[in-house]
Parts: sequence; structure tokens; C-alpha cells
Amino acid sequence: MSTLLSIENLEVHFPIRRGATFGRTTGYVRAVDGASLEIRRGETLGLVGESGSGKTTLGRAMLRVVEPTGGRITLHLEGGSNVDLRTVDRVELRRLWRHMQLIFQDPYASLNPRMTVRDIIGESLLVHGIAKGAELEERVVEVIRRCGLDAEHLGRYPHAFSGGQRQRISIARALILQPEFIVCDEPISALDVSIQAQILNLLKSLQQELGLTYLFIAHDLAAVAYACDRVAVMYLGQIVEMAETQKLYYTPKHPYTEALMSAIPVPDPDARLKPVLLPGERPDPANPPPGCRFHTRCRYADAKCRTEMPALAPIDDGHLVACHHAGSLTLQGAREQADALATA
Ligand SMILES: Nc1ncnc2c1ncn2[C@@H]1O[C@H](COP(=O)(O)OP(=O)(O)OP(=O)(O)O)[C@@H](O)[C@H]1O
Ligand code: SF4
Ligand SMILES: [Mg+2]
Repeated sequence: MSTLLSIENLEVHFPIRRGATFGRTTGYVRAVDGASLEIRRGETLGLVGESGSGKTTLGRAMLRVVEPTGGRITLHLEGGSNVDLRTVDRVELRRLWRHMQLIFQDPYASLNPRMTVRDIIGESLLVHGIAKGAELEERVVEVIRRCGLDAEHLGRYPHAFSGGQRQRISIARALILQPEFIVCDEPISALDVSIQAQILNLLKSLQQELGLTYLFIAHDLAAVAYACDRVAVMYLGQIVEMAETQKLYYTPKHPYTEALMSAIPVPDPDARLKPVLLPGERPDPANPPPGCRFHTRCRYADAKCRTEMPALAPIDDGHLVACHHAGSLTLQGAREQADALATA
């Protein structure tokens, strides 16, 4: 699989302003702080990590919806040429956004309640001057059907739909410009559990039909196991591990991933792992610890960990880890849990 998009040492530092009128900058929230990963054409790459680790900011920054403050973003075009996404001007960026879309967690907040579904879905065709009139209608009908909704409902407003249907509308809106890459930011976490699988399956079938590539941001590790080909783990603004899904779940090489895996809830008591409890609070991203960012909560930390930041490096084929001791630690993985949950 060829690379579609890669980021290197990406940074998003938000200024902290104090003082009501002058807004003096007193520091920075390092929401993304040297994150590197690459997304392959046609895959679903999962992005996991606890709340506040920077997943949403990273997902937006790689499309430049949020402006990065450092690092590189490279879009690899099919013909073999590359686009440096961080330096393209606004006109070019808007043109490229046709190929890269976002789907959000809360399908109600992200749909304008005063617009009909037809207008919500068709809007970007008008804005980009791609289609209008009968041609626009035809494309809107085609995409709404593809997303499993009835074309007769196009004249209705978002409030007339259930959460799952609203997420289908959001997906249709993202698809209308025929993008290649979609950042799905917790696309199912606001939905009823009974609806979540339907939306996951819709995303999967759309991927197969249309050859889409997804970045799938989620908390639910069972959904990630089901949906993703590979998974990247984020901690305090950095990617600490990235591997093919089964490898990451069964043979994690980073102590933080081990802790995440041990917390997967499973119904069978025999299959449960002893949870790895992380001591202390997540450090403040405005004041991250020196050395390995994870050392304040890592049970394997030593003197080196407290002073030297480990680089994200390959440990074996396609398995990247940022830990000084990745080669020598024996960590517990999720074993049969992921499978059991994926087929549940
Ligand atoms: N616009 C902003 N200005 C200042 N700080 C921000 C801004 N957006 C996010 N942050 C901070 O950046 C950090 C990362 O936030 P982000 O929303 O990217 O995390 P996340 O991993 O998506 O969390 P969650 O799982 O809760 O969605 C947090 O400390 C957050 O408070
Ligand atoms: S580098 Fe050290 S502190 Fe960081 S995860 Fe590895 S063992 Fe733990
Ligand atoms: Mg988020």
C-alpha cells in the first residue's frame, strides 16, 4: 500500500493568554508536540489515547483545519509527486480540501438546524462551483442513498432525524465532494450502542466501494479493533506506538499501550487481564515532563527515561515504538479479548 499522507514532528502549540485586555502569552498548551505517522492509501488507521492527548487537534492539524506551529505534512499524490501541505497557499489548500474531509462526533451540533438536508449535503458543491440545479440534486440523491437514507427526506431539517440518521447525513455531506481521505473524529461515540455497529459497517462498506482512506479517532478499543487495519497510540501530544492492529493489541511494546489494553472491558472473567493501573494524573500538556513523557506514570521508568526522550523507531516490521526499553520489556497484550469483542 502506498503512503497517502505523512506527518513528521508535527506541532500544534496553543498560546495561553492571561489578562483580559492585552492577552499576554504566558505559555503554550503543547496539544501536539512532535507527532509523526504515515497513513496508507485505502487503510483505516486508528488513533487512540486518553482524553486530552491531542487526537482531535492532530486530526485537524494534518488537514490544516487547525494551523500547525511546526513540523511537516506531506500529501503523496497518486502520480508520485508530493505536496508540502504546510506551505501551500489558502487557494490551493481550499482546492485540496475537496479531497480531505472531516466527520465529527456530535452529528447534531455539526449540522445547521436551519438548513434542510438537501442544502446541508449540497452546500459544498455550490461553494466550490462544482454543480447546481438538476445536477446537484442528482448528486445529492445519489450520495444520500449510498448512506442508507431515503431521498424523500431531503426536504426535512436535522431535528427530524435520529442520532444515527444524523450521522449518516454528516457522512453524506463529507462524501459529496468525492474525497479520498476522511478524518473520522469519534464518529460513533455519541450514538446508542445499538446504532454504533450500523455506522461502523456503513463506513466500512463506503471504504470498499469508494476506495477511501480513514483516520479513525476513538476511545472504544473494541470498535478500533473491528474498524482499523493499523493503530497509532498517542500520549501527551506524541505518537508512542504504531502497528498493525493485532500486533498492537496482542504484543504491545509500549507500557502505555499495555495499560490501555488491560483496561478493555470483557464479559468473560477468565479472559480478563489484571488491569495495569496508571499512577497519578495525566501531566499538564502546558508543562510536559522532561525525558520520556510517560515516565511519571511508567512502572518501568529508570534514570535514562527521566532525562532522554525516546524516538519513535521500528522494533520489527512495521511496528514502531517510542520507548528506551521496548526491546527488553515483556508486556501483556489483549490476547483473545480483541477478537471476542470484535465479533460480539
Ligand atoms: N483551541 C484550543 N486552545 C487551547 N487549548 C486547546 C485547544 N484545543 C485543544 N486544546 C487543548 O489541547 C489538548 C489536546 O486536546 P484535544 O481535543 O486534541 O484532545 P483529544 O485527544 O481529542 O481529547 P478527547 O479524547 O477528550 O477528545 C487539551 O489539553 C486541550 O485542552
Ligand atoms: S522510555 Fe522509560 S518511561 Fe518511557 S515508556 Fe519506556 S520504560 Fe517507560
Ligand atoms: Mg477529541
